[in-house]
Amino acid sequence: MTSIHQAVMTTELIDAIRPQAGGRYLDGTLGGGTHTEALLQDSAPDGVVCSLDVDPVALERARERFKGMEPRWIGVEANFRHLAEVTTDQGLTPLEGVVLDLGFSSDELEDFSKGISFQQDGPLDMRLGPKANEDGLTAADIVNSWTQQEIETVLRNFGEESHARTIAREILKARKAARIIGTLDLVSVIKKAVPHRPSKIHPATKTFQALRIVVNDELESLRMAIKGAQQVLKPGGRLAVITFHSLEDRIVKQAFQSETWSPVYKKPLEPTEIEIKQNPRARSAKLRAAERL
Ligand SMILES: C[S@@+](CC[C@H](N)C(=O)[O-])C[C@H]1O[C@@H](n2cnc3c(N)ncnc32)[C@H](O)[C@@H]1O
Repeated sequence: MTSIHQAVMTTELIDAIRPQAGGRYLDGTLGGGTHTEALLQDSAPDGVVCSLDVDPVALERARERFKGMEPRWIGVEANFRHLAEVTTDQGLTPLEGVVLDLGFSSDELEDFSKGISFQQDGPLDMRLGPKANEDGLTAADIVNSWTQQEIETVLRNFGEESHARTIAREILKARKAARIIGTLDLVSVIKKAVPHRPSKIHPATKTFQALRIVVNDELESLRMAIKGAQQVLKPGGRLAVITFHSLEDRIVKQAFQSETWSPVYKKPLEPTEIEIKQNPRARSAKLRAAERL
């Protein structure tokens, strides 16, 4: 079971963290394991890398990939919002570096049972794993039981969806007839609400992004992870974060303006044209890094 995920900006991420032999690092978003592997390589022969993911499948895959690397590699199924507790429990603090590569992996997108893809049918769940949220909320709960106003607000605030009102209204209409249970059921509701779009993006892109962010409480997890990194990084230690949309990037940018952090780069780094050509998923990536003062 190998990962199909192509990690983004690995070289830039490693340049930002500058792993050293004997250092201790946290990869809060293990995914397919490329960033973890790079951290392990560059901190050889005795650096330690602890990798977290909320997706148990990512951990299972990594246990295979990094077999024999223990005790240099430690994998933990955990939410990165708890990174300070996890690394303290593992006796790894203070850390030299923390990396976060936000969002979901291609493996998760292709796993129809997670329901994050609007290209294939699956349950309207959207949790990336059992520890992705604390209340068990699913996308089906939101579309079938939240008020029209609440749904509209979610689509507007977390999807920056300009048709939020029309889509929310159509969802309410559809669910009166029958509960919306599958991803493709929701896609057809969205297409009814917004039949023509001038842009090339799929009509369901923004709605799916908004629901995923809320279900996984992604923005709050990010805020908590930055605070956690502040607690466990040693002075001079570095946090590097790769974001994929402006809501995430804004949180990182603002956090790095506080007096705890000294940004490594004035502006966020972006992937090269070559990388974007090879991996179109990289096109919206932005990397920010800062040193703990
Ligand atoms: C873009 S992928 C990371 C890819 C990885 N950097 C690599 O080298 O392959 C994001 C990963 O973060 C995980 N994830 C998302 N939110 C998380 C959270 N709050 N805590 C821990 N893992 C999370 C996802 O399950 C996914 O596997």
